[in-house]
Parts: sequence; structure tokens; C-alpha cells
Amino acid sequence: MAEIRESKAAVQTSEAQIAVHWREEEYFYPSSKFVGQANLSDPGVNERFSENNFPECFREYADMLSWDKYWHTTLDTNDPPFWKWFVGGKLNASYNCIDRHLEKYKNKAALIFVPEPEQEATVAVTYQELYVRVNEMAALLREFAGLKAGDRVTIHMPMIPELPITMLACARLGVIHSVVFGGFSGEACGRRIADSGSRILITADSYYRSGKMIDHKANAQIALDIAKQEGQPVDKVLVWRRYRGQYGSKAPMIEGRDYFVDDELLKFSGRIIEPVSMDAEAPLFLMYTSGSTGKPKGCQHRTGGYLAYVTGTSKYLQDIHPTDVYWCMADIGWITGHSYIVYGPLALAATTVLYEGVPTFPDAGRVWRIAERLNVNIFHTSPTAIRQLRKAGPDEPAKYKYHFKHMTTVGEPIEPEVWRWYHDVVGKGEAVIVDTWWQTETGGFLCTTKPAIDPMKPGSAGPGAPGIYPTVFDENNEDVKAGSGKAGNICIRNPWPGIMQTIWGDRDRFVDQYYRKYCKDSKSKEWHDWPYFAADGAVLAADGYLRILGRVDDVINVAGHRLGTKEIESACLTLPEIAEAAVVPVVDDIKGRIPEVYVSLVPGIQPSQEIADKVTKTIETIIGKIARPRKVHIVPDMPKTRSGKLMRRVLAAISNNLSTGDITTLANPDIVESVREMVQGKESVVVKDGPDDLKQFGGVE
Ligand code: PRX
Repeated sequence: MAEIRESKAAVQTSEAQIAVHWREEEYFYPSSKFVGQANLSDPGVNERFSENNFPECFREYADMLSWDKYWHTTLDTNDPPFWKWFVGGKLNASYNCIDRHLEKYKNKAALIFVPEPEQEATVAVTYQELYVRVNEMAALLREFAGLKAGDRVTIHMPMIPELPITMLACARLGVIHSVVFGGFSGEACGRRIADSGSRILITADSYYRSGKMIDHKANAQIALDIAKQEGQPVDKVLVWRRYRGQYGSKAPMIEGRDYFVDDELLKFSGRIIEPVSMDAEAPLFLMYTSGSTGKPKGCQHRTGGYLAYVTGTSKYLQDIHPTDVYWCMADIGWITGHSYIVYGPLALAATTVLYEGVPTFPDAGRVWRIAERLNVNIFHTSPTAIRQLRKAGPDEPAKYKYHFKHMTTVGEPIEPEVWRWYHDVVGKGEAVIVDTWWQTETGGFLCTTKPAIDPMKPGSAGPGAPGIYPTVFDENNEDVKAGSGKAGNICIRNPWPGIMQTIWGDRDRFVDQYYRKYCKDSKSKEWHDWPYFAADGAVLAADGYLRILGRVDDVINVAGHRLGTKEIESACLTLPEIAEAAVVPVVDDIKGRIPEVYVSLVPGIQPSQEIADKVTKTIETIIGKIARPRKVHIVPDMPKTRSGKLMRRVLAAISNNLSTGDITTLANPDIVESVREMVQGKESVVVKDGPDDLKQFGGVE
């Protein structure tokens, strides 16, 4: 066991024991109108999903699906921590999201697409139309692209209806989709193609963002070059067009490799493809996310458990009914979009809205106009978007006649003050709010209030979701007592159906990353011995509500999106001028955190603005604009420990005007003062205390 705790992957967070003094916020209660119509208002759910009834409690979610064959074992723990759910069961995800709704809902909108240009009409895709389009695309994928169950396909697309159509067509065939966020660069896409072993890339020509037409197809060539360099050739590039028959990219179409999907689809018009009955444990998709090494991890999600979990949580915690119009503003290229734009809402026969562009385009009223026009009644977004909308137009929501019954915040901690604006102004004091804490790895919500049962508390995610038993551990594997005010590492004590199966192609990394740190006995086949380590700091209040503090590893959460510091640092190091690079998070009013870069140069190279600009450009090319640093500081040397370890924590303190703490044990303490002066100027004001994730950032010596 001692060995396990000392594993390389273990993140040291002894500073997590520092007391944090939050003001306890008061409770807000759901209206009786909301409770009266809610899917889940029976407090008996707590008993039904209690540990006494685990794991069978999750039948309740799986029974919301249509199975081709019912499972024989709810949870198989024979190969920990590779849990298996609903073993022996067979089902198809696209059947569950489309076919089974046709009888009752075929003429109801499944998707409503809202183009960014406001003069362009919205497009409603009914369940019948979705059925036809998914079938035709499935036929194309099988017969033209030669894909079959178990193959991987990379999808690099913006927010257009053809993205969920393509995903569902893959699911119909049992093909594992790997959607790469449209805003990621061609290089980032190429590395994900290579890691997943995809021979087909599905992309789009162009899309609108902030009023500009973005040439997206241009990324494909870069992606293919990188994939090839990494040993993965791609046979075909399938290109959707934003406007049928009209090519909106300057990139050439390569004969024999690139094909327009709309042209090819004509050959498959009206084709119906039987959904392939998949094992519950067959992978449904991969979703790459950043971790503490430079290489993104392909989180592999299973068909049965994942679909059951997102359906159950969409029904009970998002309160989605088939009559609701539900709008989640995330991008489908992130896990939130997969779980809570596509799979969860569609499995419940809801109407789900897809918006192409940015929330504040052309002005701060856009989001509220969309909500009013489409009569959206469930709204789901992130603290960054809420802060942005509040800044751009704090009084805008009141001008529009929409009414939300339910709202979600997800992706980052929300400040109580921002929460209150969301509640009072966006929600008009009527909507219930859930603050849902979870991760790419976890498939669905882990901590949240049950909207018709638990009161809300601004800034707190709430207790564990039904059947989720969270705890906060200190470094000695002891529970941090509820109400002690001490922070620790949030862990989930039990498996649940939405948890990823593994990291694609890397079982060891899966165990190291999430289970080694708190595993009680590596020989045990008992799930109690394998808590899931989430790599977030948290405080557990006396009422059992969790307040999430942020990452305790080398991950920066920018606007609710995860970026690995190592990924950004590796990008800097591709420049021949750069000797060393360190990336730290800086607090930002809107985005939560933004990366800031420190580099030192190889001998003989003089610092210049040109080099700093080159660093920024390189990061944008290798990762994407989302990782653009606030500043690039060229420093003479990096603060280091005597063993040569780069002290990111000291640099993070400097960038955030925090105290650098004790630096006397460094190998080069003098450098700290010169770097501080460079960054802050001679007369800097140092704040004493800062956010917890910054104190912990980069580990502790
Ligand atoms: O730090 C936590 C933060 O986002 C991380 C997960 O990011 P990702 O895998 O991209 O998934 C985002 C969508 C679920 C977590 O480790 N996070 C997520 N939700 C919350 C949050 N932090 C505070 N409050 C939340 N509600």
C-alpha cells in the first residue's frame, strides 16, 4: 500500500489542509410550481439510491432505456478498477435516441439549430427527419467509408446539426466516434486521429463565429500530416458543407481523398440501416481531455452504462420532459455537449437546441432573444458565459419574455455573487438552479442538488447525485470531517455507470491517474477499496454540500475547458529558441483562469517581442486559440529547487500578485526577485491570500 501512495502519479496536496474561511451562504428553495411538475420530487430517492441498495439502484436509470437483451449482472467488479455495468445486456444508442420515439413523437422537433447570423432562419429537425438523416449517413459510413462496429472515426466539426447526425450515425453502426472540439487546431486534431487510430476524418467546410465565416476545412490537411507523421494514415476526408452545394473553404479538395458528404449522400437517399445491437460494455465514444502529462487522454465511454447514466441524470436532475425545450450552450465537442445536448436529452425525446455562435453576437441580448423565440424553458451554461453576459448586459434578460423553469451551471466554480445574478436576473427569481460538478471522465453529473428536493446554496455544487457517494480525503487517506472547514481531495467512494471504462490504449495510466492514490488494497476485488480520485480540491460543509475549489494537478481550467500545462509547455519547446517553459494560471474576471507563459531562451538568443509573439502563435497552432496565453514573459532563468525542479508555484504567485512564500530553499532565490520585478514592476502590491487552486498549483515541495 505504501508503494501505491508513493506512485509517480500521486499529486501532493498537503496544502489542501489549510483552512478556508467561506461565509456560509443561505439556502434558496424551489417554487411549488417547479416541484409540482418535477420528474423527481419523491425524497424516497435518497433511500432508493442509498449504499444499502447499491449497485442495483442503478437499474432505475437503465430501465429508462430500451434494451435488445436485458442484462444479467448490474455491476461486475472482477477486474478492478475496470468496472463493468449491465453485463450481458445489448442495446443501440441511436435506436434509444431516435427510433423508439417515432411512434409518439415523430413530428416533434428533436434538434433546433440556431445559426449565428440572426437573419438566417432556425432549422427544426423532427425525430422523423433525424431518423432519415441518421440512417442515410449510417449507410454512407458503412458502404462508402467502409466503417464497421469497433472502428474509430475522428469528427472535427463546428456546432451544426450535421455533428449530432454524424455521431448518431456512428452509434447506429457501433462505430466509436471521437469528436474533437471544432476550435482545436489541425495539429491537435491530428494527434487525436493518431492516438485513436482513425482512418476516416469527418469535418466541415466552414462556420460562423462572431460574425466571421471561419475556414475550417483548412485544418484537415494539417491534421492529416500530423497523423501520418505519427504513423496513422487517413484514407478519406468527409466534408460537410455549411450550405449544401456551396463550398465555403479555400482549402483544395484532394481527389480520391476528400468527398463532399452532401454529394455522396444522394446515393444513399432513403436508405434504412438496422441499428447494430451492441454489448452494454462496447465503447460508444472517445473524448480526449487534458491531464498532467503532455499527451491528452482518450476517455473511453461505454454504451449501456453511459447512456443509462446520462438519461437518468437528464431526467431527474435536469428535469427534462418530452414537452420541454432545452438549451445547453456548451459545444458538442466537449463532454457536456455529448452528455447533455445529444445523448441525454434525445434519449428522453426532448427538443434540444444547438446554437452555432458566440453568446454575445451581435449584442448582449442574443441569448435571451433565442430563449424567447424558441420558448426555451431549461437553460444550461457555464460560469464564464454567465460572467460574460452579465458584463455585456446586466439588464438585458429583463427585456425579454422568456421563462426558465430550470437552469444549470457547470464547468468551474461559480462565485456566489455571480450565482445570485444568474438566479435573480437570468432566472427572474423563478428558475431552480443546479450547480453540477463532474468531469469528462465521469460521463455525467457527480455532485448537484436534486432540483425539487434539495435547497440550493450559491457557490456549492451540493451533495452527491443519486447513487454517488463523495468524500473528501486528506493526504493520509483520512476523511476530512464535514463542517471542519478544511479542504482536501474530493473522491467518489463507489463506481457508477457513467464512469469511463479506461484511457484508450493505456490501462496503466487509467489506474495510476484515478485510483492509485487512494486505493486501499490493490489486490482487492471489493469496490470499497477503490475510491475514484478526481484531482479537484473541495470543502465539505456540515450539511453535506460540496464546494469545489479547483484542480489540484497541472491542469488549468480556462472558461470551463481543461488545458494541461504540460501540453502548453511542450508546444513552447518546439521552438528552437526556447530552453525552458513554465505555464501558470492567472485569475481572470470572466474566464476564471487564463494561462500565462514563462520562457527562458537558449544561450546566444536575445529576448525580443518577436520571440514572445512566436511563442503565442505556436501555442495557437499546436493546441488552438483557446490556449492563447495572456502574456509571455521571457526570463533570464526559472526558479528551481536544488534538485532542479521548476517551481511553477512561485511563478503562479508572481503572476497573481500573491506572496511567493518561503523561497530560501530554492537553488536560485535571487531570480525570484528579478522575475517579480520584471512582471509586476518595482512597486508591486502583494495580496496575502489567493484562490486555493493557485496555492496548490504545480504541487508542493
Ligand atoms: O475542476 C473541475 C471543473 O472542471 C473540471 C472538469 O473539466 P472537464 O473534464 O472539461 O469537464 C467539464 C464539464 C463537466 C473539474 O475537474 N468543474 C466542473 N464542474 C464544476 C467544476 N468546478 C466547480 N464547479 C462545478 N460545477
